[in-house]
Parts: sequence; structure tokens; C-alpha cells
Amino acid sequence: NNYVIIMAGGTGTRLWPVSTSTKPKQFHDILGVGKTLLQMTYERFLSKFPRENIFIVTNKDYEGIVKDQIKGIGSDQLLLEPYKRNTAPCIAYASYKIASKNPDANMVIAPADHLILKEDIFLQSVAVALDSASKNDQLITLGMHPNRPETGYGYIQYIPDSATIKKVKTFTEKPEIGLAKKFIESGDFVWNAGIFIWSAKSILKAFEEYLPDLAEIFNEGNTQYYSSNERLFVNKAYSHSPNISIDFGVMEKADNVKVLLTDIGWSDLGNWESLHEIREKDRYDNALDENVMSFNSTGNIVTTDRSDLVVIQDLHDFLVAEENGIILICKKDAEKEIKEIVNSVKLKK
Ligand code: GDD
Ligand code: MG
Repeated sequence: NNYVIIMAGGTGTRLWPVSTSTKPKQFHDILGVGKTLLQMTYERFLSKFPRENIFIVTNKDYEGIVKDQIKGIGSDQLLLEPYKRNTAPCIAYASYKIASKNPDANMVIAPADHLILKEDIFLQSVAVALDSASKNDQLITLGMHPNRPETGYGYIQYIPDSATIKKVKTFTEKPEIGLAKKFIESGDFVWNAGIFIWSAKSILKAFEEYLPDLAEIFNEGNTQYYSSNERLFVNKAYSHSPNISIDFGVMEKADNVKVLLTDIGWSDLGNWESLHEIREKDRYDNALDENVMSFNSTGNIVTTDRSDLVVIQDLHDFLVAEENGIILICKKDAEKEIKEIVNSVKLKK
């Protein structure tokens, strides 16, 4: 009865120029380990879940990439979205589809683009959460110990009792920086990893309550999923769907949110700084590809795809990234600026 839904349809533009909307970061071997983030995510679950219970939801534009990277994925397991509508419709589509065949399903919702170093602990935590979710009406998320006032995450305030799966007081998605700082200072908050565990019954109920339009749209598909009409139905459904994340749409509003605090060696590889943090570094804190020589340089991240040799001299805390004929050179913490650059480059094309 246990299923996995891998969300693989986002664009991850903060890692531009490596991650682009034609090939977002989940389809790259970002870590240089010979596997893409999507492949790592898929394989992580394969050891504990039957292949036919692992679903991937992505945009139709990425159909070829996914089929290429996940050999032998069944057509029933690859859910294609006609439009980008964020994570609530993505989860609704997969949940209603799975529930139409198996109303007693329990599910893990997993982003395709995260790093999890401690896979055993992760799978154990998921098993504990699945067990609890199968018996209780709960929306469980994995809570990560925070270490900086990052504004791109969801913040969870929980009741610090001795229970393994703790009650959640508040869920605040992507707070302003001032609020994020207060949350961190208070010590009462953890980050939402964006990995969710619940029963189909619980998430369908939550959709009905908090996103009733979305619930109605995908509930109508009950007789169409797993049929030749599915594609047509989904095209129509997405054209009416609101554009909203599960975090804003459900998690902030629901009163049965629970959190499982766990240390899984997690990073969402959300920006160049977080990539620098987890990559192997030389003794001068440089994360460099093999073709890079550095002199008197510290704290840099350099990644290139076709240069034979890159030399840096007296460079500090910079990012040098080359991909597909584009080179970006900037301070490695210029996350906001990179977003703006990406937008203006798009305009020029
Ligand atoms: N299929 C599909 N369709 N997948 C999508 C879509 C979509 O329209 N939009 C996003 N995704 C995928 C992304 O590829 C990613 O794997 C996952 O869903 C989460 O989307 P993001 O866009 O990366 O969300 P976020 O990083 O801003 O925020 C979420 O993750 C944080 C932790 O990394 C939230 O859950 C936060 O609360 C959380 O802290
Ligand atoms: Mg993300």
C-alpha cells in the first residue's frame, strides 16, 4: 500500500547557468558522481518500494529526459503535466490517480532535486512516518535542523514533547528575512524539507477542505485515470488548475500537520552557496572541477563543462560556472542577482 511520488517538474533557476528551464537541476549530475539527482532520488526508493509504486510527475517537456534517465519506467508511473502549476496540482494529480485504484494507499512525496547523505536514516524515518500516517489522519513532514535565516524554506514551529512525531503549532512558508531571523533566534523552529508522508485519504480530505477547486478538478478524473482518456482529461484539468504550492495551499492551513525531526544529511542544493557547502573542497575552501588550477585563491566554486583548463588567481568567494556556452562569473552569494540575470537573459532570447 505504500507509494512514492517524485516531483520532478520544477525549474531551479538559482543554479543557472547549469540549471535552466530546458534542463533543470534534477536532470543534472550536479554532484559529479555519475548520476543525476533524479536518478539518485529514484534509486533511493527502489530498495524499499516496488517499481510500480514509484511515480514521477513532471512537465511534458521533460518526458524524453526522464525516460532516458529512468530506464524502463512504466507509462502508468510517469505522469506528464501540460503546464507548470507548482506542487499542489502535481500532488493532487498523482494522489487522485493512485487513490482511484487504491483508496488505502499511503504515500511519500519527494522532491527530485535534493541531496540526502544518510540514506539509511532517511528510509527509517520514512518507514516510521508511513506507519503512523497509515493509522492516523496526519500530514507529516520531515523537519531539518536550521542553521541560517534562509527565506526560501518553510518554517515549522512544533510542540517539543517526547513524541517521535510531534504536533505542529505553525507552518510558515518562505517568511520575510526579519521573520526568518526571529524564528532562528527563538530556537523553536525547524525547516520543512519538502518531503511529506500521508495517506491518500488524509491528503484528499485536505484538498477538499483547503483547495476545494483543485479537489473537484482532479476528483472528476476518477474514471479516466489509467484509461486512454487520461491525457485529454489532464490537459483540461491543468488548464483550470490554480498555480499554488502544497506549502501555501495546504501545509500553512491544515491543523493536523505533524513533524518528524530527523538528521538525514540533507541539502536542497538550492543555490550555489549550498552547493559549495556540500562539495569536496581543497584546503583553501575551494570547490573546483578537476580541470581547474588555482593560485592564492579561497572560497571559490568553479565548474565548467567544456574548458580544458581554467586558471584562477587571487580570486575569493567567487562562482565560475560554465554550461552550454554560457559562462557566469560572480560572487558566490549573489543568489538574488542571479535570479534577476536569468530573467533578463530570458527576455533577450
Ligand atoms: N511535477 C512538478 N510540477 N514538480 C514541481 C513543480 C511542478 O509544477 N514545481 C516544482 N516542482 C518540484 C521541484 O522540481 C522540486 O523537486 C519540488 O517540486 C519542490 O519545488 P521547489 O520549487 O523546489 O520548492 P521550494 O524549494 O521553493 O520550496 C519547497 O522546498 C523547501 C525545501 O527545499 C517547500 O516545500 C519549502 O517549504 C521547503 O522548505
Ligand atoms: Mg526546491
